[in-house]
Amino acid sequence: MNKPHLHFTAHSGAHSCLVLGIESSCDETATSVLARAEDGSIHVLSSVIASQNEQHAPYGGVVPEIAARAHMQIIESLIAQAIKDADIDYTDLDAVAATSGPGLIGGVITGLMCAKGLALSLDIPLISVNHLEGHALSPRLSEACPFPYLLLLVSGGHTQLLSVEGLGKYTRLGSTVDDAAGEAFDKTAKIMSLGFPGGPALEKIAKNGDPKSIKLPSPFKNKPHADFSFAGLKTAAARAFATFEKPTQKDKANLAASFQYTVADIICDRTSRAMDMFSAKLDKGEDLRFVVAGGVAANTAIRNGLKDLCASKGFTLAVPPHIYCTDNAAMIALVGAEKLAIGDISDDGGLGVKARPRWPLDESSAKNNPASGSGRKGPKS
Ligand code: KG4
Ligand code: ZN
Repeated sequence: MNKPHLHFTAHSGAHSCLVLGIESSCDETATSVLARAEDGSIHVLSSVIASQNEQHAPYGGVVPEIAARAHMQIIESLIAQAIKDADIDYTDLDAVAATSGPGLIGGVITGLMCAKGLALSLDIPLISVNHLEGHALSPRLSEACPFPYLLLLVSGGHTQLLSVEGLGKYTRLGSTVDDAAGEAFDKTAKIMSLGFPGGPALEKIAKNGDPKSIKLPSPFKNKPHADFSFAGLKTAAARAFATFEKPTQKDKANLAASFQYTVADIICDRTSRAMDMFSAKLDKGEDLRFVVAGGVAANTAIRNGLKDLCASKGFTLAVPPHIYCTDNAAMIALVGAEKLAIGDISDDGGLGVKARPRWPLDESSAKNNPASGSGRKGPKS
C-alpha cells in the first residue's frame, strides 16, 4: 500500500461538508476524506491508494477478476485508514461519493456496494460519481484552475480531450476510437518483454534509443477532428519488433524511442486540433488553460511536447501533482462535495444507483458522434 498523501490548499472558513470518496474502477483501490468549506475551498484531509500492479504484473495487463478480488480484500481497511488519517469519526461524514462507472464492472460494484452500506448505516446520501468527471475536476484539488479549461486525459483506460466548462458541463472534443495511449504503451512493452506497467519501462529504455531510427505510422495525424487511434501504431511496432531475429538492447531501445516519439507526436497533433476547437468557442482575450492528467502525463517526451505546444498556442499548462494525475479517490470526493453543495442528490439518497461499465461524460457527443462505436450497452466513451 502506498503511503497516504495529504494535501491542503490555502483556505479559510469553516468546513461546510465532509465527504468520503471511494474509487475502485480499475486497478487502484483508493479512499479519501475531503472537506469543502463554505467559500468553496477544498481541503484533502486524507488520500490513500493501494495499487494492484504486483498482482497484474505476471499477466502484462489488468485482469478484471484479479482486480475485483483485490478491491474486495482491501477496501474496508482502506476506508478505515482514510477516516483515521483525516482524524474524524464516521459520524462526521456528510456524504459518501463512489465511482459508479465507467470501469471494470466487478471493481465498480465492490466500491459502490461498500459505499451503499456505509451511506445506509450512517443515514447520509450516496453520491454516484462518473470516474471521468473526477479526472476532469482533478486539477482543482491542488490549484484554483478556473473554468473553462481544455483537459487531456491520457491513462491506461482513457484518452480523451474535454472542454471543461463547469460542474457537469463537459464537451468531448476528441476521444480514442480504439486503444488508450497507456494501453498502447503497455501492449508494446509486453511484446518487447519489458514488464508491467509498460509505460515507465518503455520510457526508461527509450532514453538509449534513436527516436527517428524506425518509421512508424501516425494514425489520424492532420485529420480535421481531434480523435485518436493507437491500434495501428501498436501493430506496426509489433511487426517492427518481429523483424529482429535476436533483438539486442540497442534494437529494443530504438523501437521504444521511435514508438514514444510517435505517440508524443500524435498526442500533440490531436491536442493542437482540440486547442483550435476550444479557443474558437471563447471570447477574444479570454485566458486559454490546458490541463493534462492521467498516468501517461508522467512521460517526459509527451510532457515536453505539450509544453512546447502550449507555448506556441498561447495556452498556460497545468499538470496536477502525480497523486492526483493518476487514479485516486480525492477527485471522486471532490465531485461528490461539489454536487452536495448544489443539492444534486437523488431522491432515494443514491441507494438505487447502478454500476455502469460504460458511461460517457458527454452523453450527447457520444451518441451523436460516437468516436469509439456504440453497442448494445451504449456508447463506449
Ligand atoms: O492513470 P493511470 O495511473 O491508471 C489508469 O489507467 O487508470 O495510468 C496508468 C497508465 C499505464 O498504461 C502506464 O503504462 C501509463 O499510464 N504510464 C506511462 C508512464 N507512466 C505511466 N506511459 C508512458 N510513460 C510513462 N512514464
Ligand atoms: Zn482513471
